[in-house]
Amino acid sequence: MFYETINKSHIIFFDSFDCGDDGLNNYLKELALKDQDDRKCTTTLVFSRYRGNISLVGYFTLKNTCLIYKPDEKAKIGLPAVEIVFLAVNKKKQRRGIGSKILKKIIYDTVIYSNTFSAVFAIVLSSLNDAVEFYKNSRFIDTDEYFELMPDECRETTTSLFLNLYMEY
Ligand SMILES: CC(C)(COP(=O)(O)OP(=O)(O)OC[C@H]1O[C@@H](n2cnc3c(N)ncnc32)[C@H](O)[C@@H]1OP(=O)(O)O)[C@@H](O)C(=O)NCCC(=O)NCCS
Repeated sequence: MFYETINKSHIIFFDSFDCGDDGLNNYLKELALKDQDDRKCTTTLVFSRYRGNISLVGYFTLKNTCLIYKPDEKAKIGLPAVEIVFLAVNKKKQRRGIGSKILKKIIYDTVIYSNTFSAVFAIVLSSLNDAVEFYKNSRFIDTDEYFELMPDECRETTTSLFLNLYMEY
């Protein structure tokens, strides 16, 4: 597998991509390039090469955010975090370990970035309910009375999860 930051030359790969979720498919096809240009999110495409043929097997979209820490009823502290806005694997390639490999890369790259450039306390995300087990397999946990994500409409229908890098690495 190899990774490339999204750009206009990748449009030819978009039609063939279907992860089974219309919201995630449409984001890639309709908004990912614009968000990249507007510096709202960064999308990385995941390709595989087989006998000279290149295909798009997945993508992920990240941005900087903060995880809100509430040590007591009055205090709220913003801790630096990276948010996985989207992560998707092509339907035909799911359940073969590709999503886990991509998630490992995101965690690894974030730890390196944190150690060498700008601190990151946690990786956070709003997971579609079907994918919660996938993230929990990689030690993501539910937010609780001490930790919450920044408000966002999508949080109403999804599950808020985070990985505490300080505890892990
Ligand atoms: C969720 C997703 C990224 C996982 O990618 P993947 O390549 O299929 O995942 P892996 O093969 O690495 O799965 C590793 C383990 O996670 C769990 N898992 C993966 N997908 C799961 C799902 N949809 N439901 C429950 N558990 C799941 C399983 O335990 C799996 O191990 P197993 O296959 O041995 O049972 C992929 O299924 C996908 O793109 N789904 C549609 C879009 C989506 O839900 N994205 C996440 C939104 S935030």
